[in-house]
Amino acid sequence: MKFSSYETTIDKFKLHSKNQRGDQAGRMQSFAVCAYLRKTICACLLMVILTLSLGVAVVILTPKIRALKEEGSVERPVEISQNVSNDIQAKYKYLNNMQKSKKFVLQGGEVQWARYRADPKDYGSKEERAFGESIHSNGAHMTASTLLIKPNGCRVPHWHFNANEHGYLATGTAWIGILDAAPFSVTSYNVTAGQVIFLPRATLHWMKCVGPENCLFILFFTTSEELVTLDVDDVFYATPKDIAAQSLKPKGGIKFINSFKQPKENQAINLPPNLNQLVHKASYTQSCALKVSRYFYNMRASKQYKYPGGIIQWARYTKDQSKMSRNEKIFAKSLNEHMDTVTMATMRIFRRGMRQPHYHFNAHTMGYVLSGSGRVGVVEKKAVNFHIKKGDVFFFPRGTHHYIRNVGKQDLFMVIAFSTNDELQTLDMNIYFKSTADFILAQLFLKKQEEFRKIPSFKEDQDINLP
Ligand SMILES: *[C@@H]1O[C@H](CO)[C@@H](O)[C@H](O)[C@H]1NC(C)=O
Ligand SMILES: *[C@@H]1O[C@H](CO)[C@@H](O)[C@H](O)[C@H]1NC(C)=O
Repeated sequence: MKFSSYETTIDKFKLHSKNQRGDQAGRMQSFAVCAYLRKTICACLLMVILTLSLGVAVVILTPKIRALKEEGSVERPVEISQNVSNDIQAKYKYLNNMQKSKKFVLQGGEVQWARYRADPKDYGSKEERAFGESIHSNGAHMTASTLLIKPNGCRVPHWHFNANEHGYLATGTAWIGILDAAPFSVTSYNVTAGQVIFLPRATLHWMKCVGPENCLFILFFTTSEELVTLDVDDVFYATPKDIAAQSLKPKGGIKFINSFKQPKENQAINLPPNLNQLVHKASYTQSCALKVSRYFYNMRASKQYKYPGGIIQWARYTKDQSKMSRNEKIFAKSLNEHMDTVTMATMRIFRRGMRQPHYHFNAHTMGYVLSGSGRVGVVEKKAVNFHIKKGDVFFFPRGTHHYIRNVGKQDLFMVIAFSTNDELQTLDMNIYFKSTADFILAQLFLKKQEEFRKIPSFKEDQDINLP
């Protein structure tokens, strides 16, 4: 059986090490040639080559280093290298540079992944593997991806065996269709940038880009095993013709079924060149709000939680629903009733702002950087710090202490998923310091009790604060 091959197969990467071996062979050859020439000529040639390569290196590296300095980072640029030091390994437990990962390019769009792979050979790099194994061993129940669909392109009807899907539309307009459990009916709706979709496990669904702009979805799937997906065309072509004929009972019987020709190209996100000939009447119907709200949330229009250093908006379940609109309540109930759903948020951290150190009681965290750049710290047993920028995915296992500081010139804007269908529970550093008796702190830190009065209380919540 052929699953969406863009999800389950991957070209074997030609790693840098291979090229390097080529370089070495080349160098050896040129040395052999040199042996036949006068030593002086060789020396001259070498000098010229060395000078040139030094010049090239300076030209290539200077802007990179400058760019990083401007963002206030003290970290040196990290390339996907052949020899990953332990320190780099440590941070890739929490970081995936998804924009560098393999692009699965199809006619109608492209997909990139931050995920676990059952076969380690399917990873593109050691760093991706470190991340995949980290989410797997932590039982994160989350996998991230970006799905780009070109105008008129369609992520064709399909279903996932083992995961709910939650998406944030970053750009464009898409029309979503979901066929859920009996009594079978399709719920369809438009979604535009800043809004959230929810596609429960095993529901048959599709996404079509219906605007003039590319649709970019940031997707979270609630599994940290291999995601298993089946596309409707693949199922159809894999079904014996007589079975399909008897099931569908089309006019013309098996002749009609025989007239379908499976294209060579993967149709997972398709955009036939002759689409206008094939389709002459499309109507993007909108189901009633009562139905749509189970699978759709207008995050962009939802309440803004404002802090001195930034803004958070939520697509979530909470026990107290007194301030929710009717549609928000329907969405919250839908999240809570399905197993293994996620709580989603967008977080905007202003320049110099910081999401202060905190941890979650009941959820792993996975986020995607939509714009800006930041410094992240994660403390498990020891602290690991790293830089994040647009296109990066980060992961914080449940219980780890973490913070995110904006170190760029613009807002740092992220979409974040938390692996709970219940109310998310979080404890911030300033709260647990203020809540712990000062004599206990004195005993803990070997410091006089009254010293702890220096830590102030604030009227305003300090979740995202300023220096
Ligand atoms: C490269 O990897 C080897 C084996 O893991 C290690 O012993 C060596 O120190 C590494 N070298 C550098 C420069 O990181
Ligand atoms: C959905 O989007 C399509 C394409 O832009 C548009 O024709 C249709 O009117 C939209 N439907 C709703 C209910 O906004």
